[in-house]
Amino acid sequence: MGSPRSLPRRTLAPLRVRLLGGFEVEREGDRIPPQAWRRRRPSDLLKIVAASPGRAIHREEVIARLWPDKYAGRPMKESHQHLHITEAEWQAMLSDFEKTLDKFKVPEAEQKELIAIVESTKKDIVAGVS
Ligand code: HEM
Repeated sequence: MGSPRSLPRRTLAPLRVRLLGGFEVEREGDRIPPQAWRRRRPSDLLKIVAASPGRAIHREEVIARLWPDKYAGRPMKESHQHLHITEAEWQAMLSDFEKTLDKFKVPEAEQKELIAIVESTKKDIVAGVS
């Protein structure tokens, strides 16, 4: 990327954002009515940006804060391919996993479900499995 383009600043009305004691945005002294925020995400994003003055916020951080339940890591295959994980290493991991489930007294039915989920990732993790 080159140097930042200079924006025609004077045409942009400054915003005043209130974060404490209720979220409120004013544009040239006029309060933006709550119903103008038709969706929640744009205001959530603005809150994050406004609460971090002078600090660049990484895309990953924004994603993690807006969608805390959404997986933001790398794909399974891409993460493991270069490790050349063997069948024996996979079995060792499974054995530890089962011991851990036992230790925390995870009931049999849930153990089966969890092991099935982990097994379903094997093709992306162990070298030479398709
Ligand atoms: C023998 C089994 C496994 C071994 C030895 C292993 C090892 C590793 C290692 C070393 C990395 C980091 C790679 C890197 O950054 O270069 C990694 C990444 C990852 N592993 Fe595994 N792994 C195993 C099984 C699993 C399983 C069963 C899951 C989930 C069901 C899993 C989920 C992940 C994820 C999501 C990442 C990537 C996170 C990211 O950087 O975005 N792994 N694994």
